[in-house]
Amino acid sequence: MSEIQTKKQIFKPNKEFSKSARIKNMCEYQALQDAAIENYEGFWGDYAKEKLDWIEPFTNVMDERKFPFVRWFDGGKLNVAAQCIDRHLNSRKNKAAIIFEGDRGDKQIITYLELYYNVNKFANLLKNEFDVKKGDRVVIYMPMIPEAAYAMLACARIGAIHSIVFGGFSSEALKDRIEDAAAKVVITADGAFRKDKPYMLKPVVDAAIDANSPVEKVLVVQRNGEDVEWVAGRDYSYNELIKSQSSICEAEVMDAEDPLFLLYTSGSTGKPKGVQHNSAGYILWAQMTMEWVFDVKENDTYWCTADVGWITGHTYIVYGPLAMGATTVMFEGVPTYPDAGRPWKMVEEYKINQFYTAPTAIRVLHKMGEDEPAKYDLSSLKVLGTVGEPIDPPAWKWYYESVGGSKCAIVDTYWQTETGGHIVSPLPGATPIKPACATFPLPGIMAEILDPATGEKAEVGEGGYMCVTRPWPSMIRGIWGDEERFVKSYFGDVKKDGKAVYFTGDGAIYDEDGYITITGRTDDVINVSGHRMGTAEVEAAIKKHPNVAEVAVVGKPHDIKGEGIFAYVVLKSDDGIADELEEMKTINKVIQKEIGNIALCDDIAFVPGLPKTRSGKIMRRILRSIAKGEKITQDISTLEDPSIVEKIATMVNN
Ligand code: PRX
Repeated sequence: MSEIQTKKQIFKPNKEFSKSARIKNMCEYQALQDAAIENYEGFWGDYAKEKLDWIEPFTNVMDERKFPFVRWFDGGKLNVAAQCIDRHLNSRKNKAAIIFEGDRGDKQIITYLELYYNVNKFANLLKNEFDVKKGDRVVIYMPMIPEAAYAMLACARIGAIHSIVFGGFSSEALKDRIEDAAAKVVITADGAFRKDKPYMLKPVVDAAIDANSPVEKVLVVQRNGEDVEWVAGRDYSYNELIKSQSSICEAEVMDAEDPLFLLYTSGSTGKPKGVQHNSAGYILWAQMTMEWVFDVKENDTYWCTADVGWITGHTYIVYGPLAMGATTVMFEGVPTYPDAGRPWKMVEEYKINQFYTAPTAIRVLHKMGEDEPAKYDLSSLKVLGTVGEPIDPPAWKWYYESVGGSKCAIVDTYWQTETGGHIVSPLPGATPIKPACATFPLPGIMAEILDPATGEKAEVGEGGYMCVTRPWPSMIRGIWGDEERFVKSYFGDVKKDGKAVYFTGDGAIYDEDGYITITGRTDDVINVSGHRMGTAEVEAAIKKHPNVAEVAVVGKPHDIKGEGIFAYVVLKSDDGIADELEEMKTINKVIQKEIGNIALCDDIAFVPGLPKTRSGKIMRRILRSIAKGEKITQDISTLEDPSIVEKIATMVNN
């Protein structure tokens, strides 16, 4: 295969690979999907019995009487940490559970037995020193080091609910999340290393905790050894306390529907929402998708480059791989440091079999190191994955040919924080793939593109809303502390046969072969480097700048990041502005403080006003078109001041 000309081209699975794949062809796929359609509860009940080790068996598969509040596997008792560790001790105790590589090249291999002891000690520390009990919330603000995984599993072991906050978020963002969840403990590190230099996390935690904070204790893991301040009676050293903990800790017996974790994510309105996932349904689907989508075998080494601060890190670095007893790689560093050959060097060294990353990373690696893959032996690779944002055909082509040697399946996995695991994705041994196409719903997932007006299945080529029409085990269980927002956010927009269905917020389109391509968000959420960012959230941050009167934020296509952030700002007074660049910097400083570097604006236009309807609604569509440099074709006659459009367009495009 030399040239990938069009998006329509089809790539059949590698025949050798298919022979031993868990799902070998589309007939097998269809048979599974038919079985789920025919007997939905039977399908899930059988897998739940087969895949999970129950302390007590469940008595009911699914209870949707209070839809959209759905319960799975009621009566069943289990412990997610035990699913991920204890049950492997008979057959895999000396197998590598986690392979860690630090930014500076330091390495650690943690076997399942070592993981068991490390997690038990961590769990005992939380229980005995900090009095953490079942149901308590624990915030984890950590770099990508093994202790982050121990912390998650330690919480799961004692029934505490973890809420990981990505290390790139600012103290304000961390504070909001700590307070919303009323967390009593924060687990952090002094800092870590990035590009061979130390950076700090503990000072961010210090700034996030004030006198009214619910936080009682802060546990600090030593990673970079830099000096940090200690608050007596609040801050404790993990490295000291862990020494005296027992390496045996009984796993808490949890109900199938006991919460496992919260993970805050952006919505189209308001502040970030604490997406809640519960125990049994989540871990079941995490394991099943690991097996089906990555087809990881007993001796394989699997590497997902995400950060544990995002859902991909939860499901596909920690919970999924460990639940199935796989070897998972954790990497602290940056893929382009010391050069853009770093990931390929690691693939060669660890003989990675499945590699899973985001299109932004692929674009950066392509741009900065097009010829780097050829310098390494990448023959161990079998499956390549992408996640988080649409991948463009040129990036796909390079990934397929230069990284995968034109022999690996690329699984373009579509899912969200709320879905817990993949919902639409190719199966590497079965699905003939089309570049940049998520293909078909996974077996058991009733995902459909619906016409929002009629609730009917969208016609080929017409586009519609990506929905899931039946509850599935790893579905979001709620938004922490806000039932109404949960119902409104996901079940308010689309009805099928008169019944509300789960709407992802994404648009999608069927092609003539029934393949699903995700076309992007339909709401005011932008996707920056695969990270979800609510425009309302960025606007709220910018409004904190004392000289900002009004602001509207939109996404603008960006070569590397997929989408960049474009802000239109109306200043209260432009008297004091020496130059716009300076003003832009001060606005970005506010964003940095309120949210973090991930939300910095690429462009800020200082404009005299915003295009609004007579009722005061900002017409973002127009602003999006202007940001892209498109001609305005929309009807602007209904605007309060139609002339503003021309003024803004002239300012932006000159
Ligand atoms: O817009 C979709 C996009 O990422 C959103 C979910 O973001 P988040 O909850 O942060 O989870 C990211 C990792 C799962 C979706 O609503 N998205 C995710 N995967 C894809 C995608 N867009 C296109 N193609 C994908 N494969």
